[in-house]
Amino acid sequence: MITPVVLAGGSGARLWPLSRAMYPKQFLPLNSDVSMLQETLLRLKGLSVSRPHIVCNEEHRFLVAEHVRQLNLQAKIMLEPVGKNTAPAIALSALELAACGHSDALMLVLPADHVIDDTNTFQSAVTEAASAAKAGAFVTFGIVPTEPATGYGYIRFRPDHNDDAVALSVQSFVEKPDQAVARDYIASGEYYWNSGMFMVRVDRYLEELKSYRPDILKVCEQSMLKATHDHDFIRVDSAVFAECLEDSVDYAVMEPLCGSGDAGEVLVVPLDAGWSDVGSLSALWDIKSKDSNGNVVEGDVILEQTRNCFVHGQDRLVATVGLKDLVIVDTKDALLVASKGSVQDVRSVVHTLKAHE
Ligand code: GDD
Ligand code: MG
Repeated sequence: MITPVVLAGGSGARLWPLSRAMYPKQFLPLNSDVSMLQETLLRLKGLSVSRPHIVCNEEHRFLVAEHVRQLNLQAKIMLEPVGKNTAPAIALSALELAACGHSDALMLVLPADHVIDDTNTFQSAVTEAASAAKAGAFVTFGIVPTEPATGYGYIRFRPDHNDDAVALSVQSFVEKPDQAVARDYIASGEYYWNSGMFMVRVDRYLEELKSYRPDILKVCEQSMLKATHDHDFIRVDSAVFAECLEDSVDYAVMEPLCGSGDAGEVLVVPLDAGWSDVGSLSALWDIKSKDSNGNVVEGDVILEQTRNCFVHGQDRLVATVGLKDLVIVDTKDALLVASKGSVQDVRSVVHTLKAHE
């Protein structure tokens, strides 16, 4: 049995002001006419999977339920009172499956905010991963890197593999290296970017978390013991979960596991399916269709001598003259103007806003 575990608790801060605290990126129709969460669920159609788990923040429960309902699907919606990053979020789902007697289920962990153009290739990769994961492997999905990006994990595969192998052994994993290191990794030709999707058996995930972060496992176990069940919603205990330390699965499990010398049980299935994590407004510019001057234009916009810009208007006319390589997002209550090369730092604006709340 494969259970999709959809991670939908991120804040999408780098896509501000399109993405907002009450309406983050995964609930927006950024790449089509359905939300990114809905795209994530629709991408599974045709695969043999059981009812998905969606792990999200409690304040987004009605949005998630509505997006699932619109697709005529059913999901278990696991509610976090506060986000503690991905290692605990996945643990909650694993513990729920274990409690239902499915310790041998395969979790297909999927961020809710990625674009994948080629669904068939994605589904074939999932099918390949499933047989290895069933045998106990921790299976990641790797993307051929195109630039020394610092926002990704880097998966080093063993170069001595047989050319027909679909899943390669992983030698090491480094989460978000600095740019000089990322440049060396790319030059070596021995690394994939971590897509953030992976497949693992419930019992294996819980075992690894117990080895590397028993504290996180313990708090999650206690939060689930006291969880309340209400129709499709499972609400973890907020007082207990508040004590959980934040950590991503990449730092909490992947890095130490792959550095343990025992990473033979970690595999990477290469995925060439038009993947993007839409991690910034310039990544959004990358995936959208452009006019003959390389501009992405949304809303009521007039452009003069403007090249390679992303211009988004909502409630009023936006006009630009003599600009290049800028991102301009005009919403009802906030206007962002940024150079395309600096859009990763849009996150700082959100931190400043939070500090003033
Ligand atoms: N439920 C829940 N709770 N989901 C969360 C939480 C949380 O506290 N925090 C993040 N998520 C969700 C986000 O919505 C996103 O779908 C996914 O988990 C990954 O979180 P990000 O915050 O977007 O991670 P990242 O982009 O910095 O890094 C990860 O993804 C990269 C690829 O996009 C890592 O896995 C990297 O190694 C990877 O390269
Ligand atoms: Mg991300």
